[in-house]
Formats: sequence, C-alpha cells, structure tokens
Amino acid sequence: MLPSLQCTLAILLLIASDVLAAPRPNTGSSTTIPLVRRAHNRRTEKDWGEWAKSHREMLISKYGGSATPVKRGSGTNLITNQNADSSYYGSVAIGTPPVSFNVILDTGSSDLWVADSACEIGCKSVPTFTASQSSTFKNLSKPFNIQYGSGQAAGILGQDTVQMAGFSVANQAFGVCNDVSSGLLNNPVSGLLGLAWNTIATSGATPLWQTLAGSGAWDSPVMSFQLTRFVDDNNAQTLEPGGSFTMGFVNESLYTGDIDFQSIPSGQESYWILPLTQINVQGNALTFASSSSSSFAAIDTGTTLVGGPSSAIAQVYSEIPGSAPGTGNFEGYYTYPCSTAVNVSLAFGGNSWSISPADFKLTQISNSQCLGALFELETGGSAPAWIVGDTFLKNVYSVFRFNPPSVGFAQLSEAVTAQNGVNGPVPSATIGSAAAAVSATNGSDALSSSGESVRASTLTTLGLLLGGVVVGIMSVF
Ligand SMILES: *[C@@H]1O[C@H](CO)[C@@H](O)[C@H](O)[C@H]1NC(C)=O
Ligand SMILES: *[C@@H]1O[C@H](CO)[C@@H](O)[C@H](O)[C@H]1NC(C)=O
Ligand SMILES: *[C@@H]1O[C@H](CO)[C@@H](O)[C@H](O)[C@H]1NC(C)=O
Ligand SMILES: *[C@@H]1O[C@H](CO)[C@@H](O)[C@H](O)[C@H]1NC(C)=O
Repeated sequence: MLPSLQCTLAILLLIASDVLAAPRPNTGSSTTIPLVRRAHNRRTEKDWGEWAKSHREMLISKYGGSATPVKRGSGTNLITNQNADSSYYGSVAIGTPPVSFNVILDTGSSDLWVADSACEIGCKSVPTFTASQSSTFKNLSKPFNIQYGSGQAAGILGQDTVQMAGFSVANQAFGVCNDVSSGLLNNPVSGLLGLAWNTIATSGATPLWQTLAGSGAWDSPVMSFQLTRFVDDNNAQTLEPGGSFTMGFVNESLYTGDIDFQSIPSGQESYWILPLTQINVQGNALTFASSSSSSFAAIDTGTTLVGGPSSAIAQVYSEIPGSAPGTGNFEGYYTYPCSTAVNVSLAFGGNSWSISPADFKLTQISNSQCLGALFELETGGSAPAWIVGDTFLKNVYSVFRFNPPSVGFAQLSEAVTAQNGVNGPVPSATIGSAAAAVSATNGSDALSSSGESVRASTLTTLGLLLGGVVVGIMSVF
C-alpha cells in the first residue's frame, strides 16, 4: 500500500476507534435512560476535557505513539552548490553526541546513507561516520546496498538519532557504507539524504522527511528548494553558496505570486512524479497526454540535467536550427549553435516554467557548438520516463508537499535571482537546535521484508553519474 494511504488509514482507524469508544447512553434498561442521559449531559466542560485527554492518551499509547503532542516547527538548511551546479548538498547531524555530515539532498531517492569510518576505497578524502563514537547507534546487522549507474554504496543498516534544520528523529534507519565506488563522493560530501517516498526506499525504512511530515512535526506539510546558478560563471569555485532547503514552511521572501501545486498522479507516491504535459521550445509547443505514464516525470534535485525519451528529445532539438545529435562520449546528447539563446519551458498540467538559456547551455564543446542540457534517457522498470533535475529546478522555487501529495512551483523572487553567480563563502552546517523531536517508526516488518532490495534508485544513479560527466566535460574544455 502506498504511504499516504497508509497514513490516512491509520488516522481513520484512530478516529473510528475514538468514536466507537465514546460514552453512549445506556440502553440496557428503559427506566434509567433519562437519568443516565441527564447525568451524562451534566458533565461539565472540564469533565469532558479530562475525559478527552485521558482517552486520547490511552489510545495514543495503545497505538505506540507518544502521549506528548509532537511539538511543531519549521527550519532552514543552507545548502552548497558543488562543481558549478552539478550537485547540491546540505547538512545532517548523526548520533550522540551529534556529528554533522554533508549529504546530497536528493528528491529522487529515499534512503539516507553515509560513509563508514571503516571505508577505505571511495571514501579516502571524505569525513566518515564512526558508529562506536555514538552512544545511541544501533547496528541493525542487515546489509544495505544501493546501486548507481556509476557504482554503488554498500554496507550495513544502522539506526541512530538524525538531526536536520531544527528537527530530530530518533531511531532513523540509514546505511553505513564501507564499500563506496570511487568518484561517488566528492569531498566534503559524506553521503546522501533521500527525500522521496518510502515505497522506493532500498532500506525499507521511512525516510527522515516522511517521518517528520507524517508525525505532524512540521508547521506545514511541505519542504522546499531554492537552488543557485553558477553554470555560466567562469569564476565559479568548486563550492559556492547553493541556496536553501526548508522543512515545515515555505519562505515567502524566496518567491513571488502563487505556488502552482499539481498533484502527484493518484497512487504514484514513489518518486515525486508529475505528468509533463507540454514543452515549449522557441515558442513552439509539443504536447503530451497527462494520463499516459510516458509523460511521467520525476522532479529530482539529485539529478543535474533533464532526461527524457529519445523521440521527445529529438522533437525538442528539431525546433533548434543547427542542432545535431552528439557522437562518441556525447551520444544521447545534442549540440546546437552557441549563438542561439534557447528558451525551453515545461508545463506539468498548470503554468509553464521557463529554463533560462544559461541553464540550457551546459557547456561549449567546439568553436561554435554548445551542449544542450536536455538529453536522451531510456529509463527502465518503474522509473518515470522523464527526469527533471537541477537544470530546471534552478529556475523555480520548488515545493514538495506531503499532503495532499503534490509538487508546486513558483516564480523566484529578485532576492533569489540576485544570488546567482555571486561567489561567496559556503554556508557552515545548519543543524539548528532540535526544537521538535520525533521517533522513527522503524518498523521491523518493513526492514526485514525489504532487506537488500533491488529497488535501487535509477534516478539518483543518473544524477551522480551525469554530475561526473559534466564535471569531466568542463575540465576538458
Ligand atoms: C555491524 O555488525 C556487523 C555484524 O553483524 C559488522 O560486520 C559490522 O562491522 C558492524 N558495523 C558497524 C558500523 O558497527
Ligand atoms: C528566508 O529567506 C531570506 C532570503 O534568503 C532569508 O534572509 C531568511 O532568513 C529566510 N527565512 C528563514 C526563516 O529561513
Ligand atoms: C520563453 O518561452 C515562454 C513560453 O513559450 C514565454 O512565455 C517566455 O516569455 C519566453 N522567454 C523569453 C525570454 O523569450
Ligand atoms: C526499533 O526501535 C526500538 C527502540 O529503539 C528498538 O527496540 C527496536 O529493536 C527497533 N527495531 C529494529 C528493527 O531495529
């Protein structure tokens, strides 16, 4: 069953049992009914209050929750832009005492993992997690393995307290990886935080964000991204300010106008999926049926570019005079005249959102030709046909809403666009003091039924892989 449905069901069950357990008039004896009713009615507001409170606490403890209402809150995590928009990372703190780690923020996968101190290859220059130094760490002794196109991260599943942006989740399951393919982690990044739905979690564990949203710890059931642009900045350093990630609220100074929310197609909570209904290229519209799964797109902060079906990508470039399919290492990509300012915009059933020509122009590969940021991608299995990554997301304020499950986009404010290409110091870890704390429902069922699953994230895979390719291209040309 899908996560949101499970939650809804759990809430309905709680309400239902609450109603069933409520005091009723005694119908056992006709003569006493009026008396009982009167006595019942004479309960004061205070009596009712006490009854309601104890009843709720009893039910909460029965259903394994905490009797203390979850304290709500909201928080911001300042993020870093790595390798001219190749990836964006934020910070989490793990363990007792908490140690902070930089992790790629990835809405295209659902597992948290960090490099283990026992990891040698692939983790050489990155900060690693030392389980023995955390008094709250628990080794779940289950294998964890997530496959990426460019390699894998493998190790064991553990659980510990994880903090982020002023929130704390106890017993969060995550991968502690001692076997990480080289090139997957670029210092100072130690791992990855998956921000998609639990149905695609390799570990079977509920993702950190979903535990927080599902337990009502957020003022508002949303998280949001604002990502900076440095792809067109010749002075870009390896690390630059990356923007911000919020949990529990949207920051109104980062966008203007309304947030255009579009629902995830019914029952598709896995990746953050929206149907890509229309693409505009140089003023010409290509339309796709929203009902068809071939229009499904994963909105993925962990992928650098925008990938889609070959035929659709060919159509896009056919609207750009002088464009041609790439060859050799550039197979699957297209080149186009650098002198052309390409205006591509995407619509997901609502407004149309433009990708700036600067983001479309990935890099110059010859005297006159540039490489476009839209490329051919044939996804497999249950992965959506389109992967809409940072090339697009830099152009909007993006909001990922737990309930109702949807993704929203809004116009960036001038305060935000003014941050693009402005070289500066990268933010330090913004963990915040944990104002709201919840405990993960670590669900041994989920963990044991899944174990070392094959539902690895094809998407993140590509994101990291392409990040590598792009950096390679940039350093060559
Ligand atoms: C967890 O336990 C397994 C044995 O079940 C061991 O091989 C592994 O090194 C432990 N890992 C950590 C991080 O404690
Ligand atoms: C909202 O964004 C503005 C502009 O970046 C920033 O100054 C402010 O601190 C942010 N608010 C919160 C609560 O993070
Ligand atoms: C880009 O195209 C969109 C839709 O086709 C249009 O609304 C927008 O004004 C165009 N932007 C520029 C800079 O031409
Ligand atoms: C879940 O957390 C509880 C409390 O820490 C622990 O007793 C239990 O063993 C955990 N479940 C699993 C599968 O590790």
